[in-house]
Amino acid sequence: MIEKSSLGSGGPQVGRLGYGAMVLEGYYGASDDDEAVATIHRALDKGITLIDSADAYGNGHNEELVGRAVKGRSDAFVATKFGIVFDPSEMGSDVPTGWGFSLKINGRPEYVRRSIDASLKRLGVDAVDLWYLHYPDPNVPIEETVGAMADAVASGKVRHIGLSNMTAEQVRRAHKVHSIAAVQYEYSLWRREVESSLLPTLRELGIALVAWSPLGAGFLTGTAPSLGPTDFRQYNPRFSASNLATNTSRFAGLIKLSDEFGITPAQLALAWLLNQGNDIFPIPGTRRASRVDENAGASEVRLSVEQLMLIDQAAPPGVAEGSPLV
Ligand SMILES: NC(=O)c1ccc[n+]([C@@H]2O[C@H](COP(=O)([O-])OP(=O)(O)OC[C@H]3O[C@@H](n4cnc5c(N)ncnc54)[C@H](OP(=O)(O)O)[C@@H]3O)[C@@H](O)[C@H]2O)c1
Repeated sequence: MIEKSSLGSGGPQVGRLGYGAMVLEGYYGASDDDEAVATIHRALDKGITLIDSADAYGNGHNEELVGRAVKGRSDAFVATKFGIVFDPSEMGSDVPTGWGFSLKINGRPEYVRRSIDASLKRLGVDAVDLWYLHYPDPNVPIEETVGAMADAVASGKVRHIGLSNMTAEQVRRAHKVHSIAAVQYEYSLWRREVESSLLPTLRELGIALVAWSPLGAGFLTGTAPSLGPTDFRQYNPRFSASNLATNTSRFAGLIKLSDEFGITPAQLALAWLLNQGNDIFPIPGTRRASRVDENAGASEVRLSVEQLMLIDQAAPPGVAEGSPLV
């Protein structure tokens, strides 16, 4: 079973390894709903209780799918997000991602109120365990958005508040309005900026870090994907043909290390993250139950000081080629 840790100081006990459900929406290849539900069930059976969704994934479909999977499962700890707007009739602020497209973000209190009701309905639950603002709205002070999220806590619709893709300063301001349990940010062996930019502030404030794309969107598993025409990773500069070739060569040492340690590359990537502190919660995604088993195995891996040093040398901060998202 997966070891538990508190999500933020004094927060709820949650399995240290979570499950990211975004991959079930076909962004990285086709997915089947029945298999998806079985995969989430396998995760829960393994003690992977933190199930991560968002209203943006599959434009609401992912929350319905997660709702179907967690029905009757009191062990599930359901996290979802709001703020990304696809409906052209909705207001929102344009946020360039640096990946060749912009996101429309709405953090207005009126939209916050409507979003939680819509998410609860799709998930089929009375309350969301952890509710994140997906991205900050540059035209709405974070205090206003979090104030409206706090109202959802007061009315029993949300148990804990989270933020995603925020700066340390935004987190500080938000935390003064309402206690923040967790901040979600990309963190893996090919994206380590958070170690110096955000993590020290989270630790000072007693906030957990939920690591998104902990397997580098599949790159760190050593199975470098050939991207189909609808694969969302085509927008990620790290997967462009030339950068992928460079990155494959730069990370070859890491893949070799996993072989030497007798674990899979995915297990090495996750075990390394789990070793960074019990306030770090990686949420790997997979469409396959067998890979849930493999990834869960990372929690059994104990890396020695020497092994950690070798990993650090093989994948130091900044080694990946290609700009990260936002
Ligand atoms: N807050 C945000 O802005 C944000 C952004 C991105 C992601 N997220 C969250 O983070 C979660 C995870 O991120 P992610 O899906 O982008 O990336 P990830 O978890 O780093 O990688 C997922 C990819 O790795 C593959 N994979 C998983 N386990 C494997 C294994 N053992 N061996 C080989 N391949 C394996 C999966 O393929 P198969 O399906 O074929 O196994 C999938 O293509 C998402 O589901 C989402 O909840 C949040």
